[in-house]
Amino acid sequence: MCGIVGYTGSRPCLELLLAGLERLEYRGYDSAGLALLDDEGTLETVHAVGNLARLRAAVAERAGSAALAAAGSEPATSPLASGEREEAALEAAEVSARRARTGIGHTRWATHGRVSEENAHPHSDPEGRVHIVLNGIVENWAELRARLEADGNVFTSDTDAEVVAHLIARHYHDDPVEAVRRAYRELRGHYAFVALFAGRPGLLVGARKECPLVVGLGRGETFLASAIPAFLRHTRRIQLVEDDELVVVTPDGARFERVAGALVEREVRVVDWDDDVAERAGFETFMLKEIHEQPDAVRETVADRLADGVVLPELGLGEDEATRLRRVIFVGCGTSYHAGLVGRYAVERWARLPVEMDIASEFRYRDPVLDERDLVVAITQSGETADTLAAMRLARNSGARVVAVTNVMGSQATRDADGVIYTRAGLEIGVAATKTFVAQVAVMYLLALWLAQARGTLASSEIDRLREELRALPELVRETIDSVREPVRAIAEHWQSAGFFLYLGRHVGLPVCLEGALKLKEISYVPTDAYAAGEMKHGPIALLDERTPVVCVATDSPVLEKVLSNIAEVRARGAHVVAVATEGRKEVAEHAEEVIYVPRSDWMLQPIPAIVPLQLLAYEIARLKGLNVDQPRNLAKTVTVE
Ligand code: G6P
Repeated sequence: MCGIVGYTGSRPCLELLLAGLERLEYRGYDSAGLALLDDEGTLETVHAVGNLARLRAAVAERAGSAALAAAGSEPATSPLASGEREEAALEAAEVSARRARTGIGHTRWATHGRVSEENAHPHSDPEGRVHIVLNGIVENWAELRARLEADGNVFTSDTDAEVVAHLIARHYHDDPVEAVRRAYRELRGHYAFVALFAGRPGLLVGARKECPLVVGLGRGETFLASAIPAFLRHTRRIQLVEDDELVVVTPDGARFERVAGALVEREVRVVDWDDDVAERAGFETFMLKEIHEQPDAVRETVADRLADGVVLPELGLGEDEATRLRRVIFVGCGTSYHAGLVGRYAVERWARLPVEMDIASEFRYRDPVLDERDLVVAITQSGETADTLAAMRLARNSGARVVAVTNVMGSQATRDADGVIYTRAGLEIGVAATKTFVAQVAVMYLLALWLAQARGTLASSEIDRLREELRALPELVRETIDSVREPVRAIAEHWQSAGFFLYLGRHVGLPVCLEGALKLKEISYVPTDAYAAGEMKHGPIALLDERTPVVCVATDSPVLEKVLSNIAEVRARGAHVVAVATEGRKEVAEHAEEVIYVPRSDWMLQPIPAIVPLQLLAYEIARLKGLNVDQPRNLAKTVTVE
């Protein structure tokens, strides 16, 4: 997601910050900015849309225009000719821009508010006393902003981050740390931010809640960043900031304080990563890193959308329009298609609307019957998949309302849609989709709940219960990643040479199987088939023998009994069953050779934890085969051709 880097020390920091941001480029970004504070307390900020070369150009341009202004104001009696005056002033401004020894930088990957210079960080209060860079989401930003506006504060961006700068400034009299502490107490959500105070060179104050922030200790200089690669070339001595902690950074090091007040001793660790490993945050591959980022992907995606009922203004649909809808049609390709399948069950069950789901490349050529009473939801992680874009155009031309669910702000799908719901998974680098899938499924639940709320098809107490269940999901995903790793590894070792895997499931377990089977074939090149368990006896049963591993998704659902009968049918043919079940369901163990348990949640939400062991199974088998999981053969991350 976004990247933060801060520095205070003995060296001029412009280049250090730019180089630090470059080391975070792999995370993806669409705009960037810097705030630089020199020893006299003079502060400069620069923002740019686009890549870091654009930010460098903006810095140079800023220095140039300051120089020209200075040259223009030279007294006419100056002994220098005007060209020489300009050159001398240019040099002076360059020197000034480059002499700052305290600064913060940010790369923004837009989630709230479009990509623009105004929305790029750092953000400040109107007087420019406090400048901040922030990663994550402030969930109660709208409420805080309304309060601050009522007090006369004028905002210049659409971001949640700007609220934090205003809030700190409001509490800032003479103690910057106390100001951050007071502001922090008013925030809800998950974030990490770093503040810099005009007139206070040599000081940065950071705070963290559920988003990473790490200190790098140098000689006479200290870094504060969202990830280690930002400063790895300068120091390997690090200190981690923990949740609900403030960190006060000076050139001499960092002081840690609980928000509640107590000072904290923090151990210094020495990292032995090389640059490549650091980019993957210590994981051996991007795919594994992204699997571990799934709790955050879900958390960011649902965060503020569950603040008060279910809030989806991006849908651009009024409640009355929702009641007039005749049908929802999901379209997508690959993993996105599987997310839509989960959406189908959720919308039908909760919002009582007829739902269709189609593969985009089929939908676009099948001459579908559509009109303005239809809501077409195009799911595309990249927002650029050719078939999905064509399906959207077709739907729009038929008068249907088209909503895109995508992870990439400004992508083509966002331009071709009437409404856009962003997944907020952060840039995904591994070709096999993982964190974008769980974020898409989370959006399916949000959409289904929103429709149910608008159409009055679920009691508000039931909506509230499901909101709580959705809020709890990120933690359940984290628990799942921790608990299934070892059992999955053992299964992968045992079955690494199997020539074929069959996946079986019913209801919402079926899309999980389809996605799990896709992961295995994509990255391990092992043939797989995924089937509705009830349909097995009409074909795949012929494939079964004692050499066949059969992965059964047998999580809680009203059809669990049926799934167990299907498992019995599989075992009767001698095949080996690996089941994924909900914690506490001992009866599954009576039917399967191996059971991998995932934590309990509302049964409709089980696909999110249940996909984790299947992603890891595919991952472990591919690793055992020595394959490149991040770039499997023949596959592309974004398919822009038909
Ligand atoms: C490619 C990718 C898949 C992805 C599919 C759809 O096949 O390798 O991971 O699911 O495209 O992409 P989209 O960007 O539209 O979700």
